[in-house]
Amino acid sequence: MTGATGGLPAFTPGPQGMAHLELLLTGACPLPGFMTAAEAAALAEPGPPPAGAPWPVPAVLAVPDELADAPGLVLTDPEGAPLAELKVAESHREGGSVRLAGALRPAAPPAHGALRPLRLTTGQVRADRPDPGRPMLAVVTDRPLHHRALALVRSALAAIGGAPELLVLIDAPLDGEGAAPAVLAARPLLPEHTRFAVVTLPTAAADGAPELPARRRDLLAAHVAAAYGATHVVLEPARADRAPEGAPAVVLPAGEWAHDTREGVWRPAAEVAPEHARPELADADVETELAHGRALPSWFTPGPVAAALARTRPPRADRGLTLFFTGLSGSGKSTVARGVAERVRRAGRTTTLLDGDVVRRMLSSGLTFSRADRDLNIRRIGYVAAEIARHGGVAVCAPIAPYAATRAEVRRMAEDTGDFFLVHVATPLEVCEARDRKGLYARARAGEIPEFTGVSDPYETPEDADLVIDTSLDTEAESVARVIDALRGGGWLPPSSAGEHPEWRGEHSVRHSGRRTVPSPTSVTD
Ligand code: ADX
Repeated sequence: MTGATGGLPAFTPGPQGMAHLELLLTGACPLPGFMTAAEAAALAEPGPPPAGAPWPVPAVLAVPDELADAPGLVLTDPEGAPLAELKVAESHREGGSVRLAGALRPAAPPAHGALRPLRLTTGQVRADRPDPGRPMLAVVTDRPLHHRALALVRSALAAIGGAPELLVLIDAPLDGEGAAPAVLAARPLLPEHTRFAVVTLPTAAADGAPELPARRRDLLAAHVAAAYGATHVVLEPARADRAPEGAPAVVLPAGEWAHDTREGVWRPAAEVAPEHARPELADADVETELAHGRALPSWFTPGPVAAALARTRPPRADRGLTLFFTGLSGSGKSTVARGVAERVRRAGRTTTLLDGDVVRRMLSSGLTFSRADRDLNIRRIGYVAAEIARHGGVAVCAPIAPYAATRAEVRRMAEDTGDFFLVHVATPLEVCEARDRKGLYARARAGEIPEFTGVSDPYETPEDADLVIDTSLDTEAESVARVIDALRGGGWLPPSSAGEHPEWRGEHSVRHSGRRTVPSPTSVTD
């Protein structure tokens, strides 16, 4: 975002630029500002960074083309409040974008972003230490501390000696709380004077740049921890399998831990008899348990952490959902989506149906079928769906949505506020064309409708569908039932259809006539 403030243009950095800026403003990064091309290039070489480098990763500010010649910039937060003034020392172009380097003059302490009261400067944390001469262990984590991590922290504190202080640095995004509430829930299980601070560690040199290598990200975490006063660091998780070289604090190995089922304690795996060793739940298992509203087991995580997680990740039946159907015109997506929306509503969830043709009349009237207009149409649907999901509702969408990149964009938008479930209605083109309920295929073949999907315009088959249905193989009722079963199986609908009247389920219309290639043209419409 750009604008003008006091003569200098204003600019709001993207998420990566903002993360680098935060580290510069909190004092975690000792540099005067954003790096020049030469400084960044020296840190972009493979292998460890040059000996004595004050910072382990390139920190670069990517700006739009129109700012290439600006003598300086006012960097602002997303609400437009000034954060710092950048005196531009160098402007160059890399990876298709303009990069500005130069020293920063802080304008005002940042006030935006989630968890602001916990975003402490290094000076605040250092000034607050009871005894700066004591060692300090920092745990840098972007995940909740379950029993395994807590056992690791206790063992690290014991191994360090000298009555170390403990600082938990929570790596959370600037625009959300991330795992912070669940991390903070472990407070009663940590030593009494444990301090917590929130940081946002950049994952790339600049917005649009590729992700930093795992070892550099570990090294960056160690640098940030050391800037807060840490002498020792535990990385939760460590991204690389070996500790980074040249870190300014001792990076302690995580090691392998197991729950000893006989003793009921967590120990280094080597000290547990294999028949009694139980490993930690994988992240995906935790996600599944939470999705279905099941309690996390107490051998795995302490009650307060489990409770905080259940609050931040409510069961899917309570989360908003974007149920997105994609497929050719005439594939049956509207009919199936309508049937599904009805059943979802009857299962007790607030539901909005955003059908392709209806959206074209209401939200997107005036748009054509050019790629740009189709993308805009789909983005509008995605925006509305994400807002519906934000309020806990189910948005059932049924446009053609022929482009994978635009569908991916909708997935990202939707997942910011709820869950996303993609159904590909993969009815073959020949069947759609044979149905031709609206006569559009015939007109498209006759050249009367240009850019017609499947005839003279592309349809990119989804590779990320959560479910594929085909209305040439299944009846409408069967197709609806397959979607509903998938939603029930995934926990988005309650497992039993209590209160659902049998004839509402549509069984009466299920035909058991076997597999057909072309259903009767009136039974399934688009
Ligand atoms: S999308 O590409 O932007 O997702 P959308 O689902 O809104 O398309 O609209 C598709 C409907 O518009 C089709 O079901 C069909 O009735 C009608 N239509 C009119 N022109 C075209 C075209 N050129 N390509 C595809 N569908 C079209």
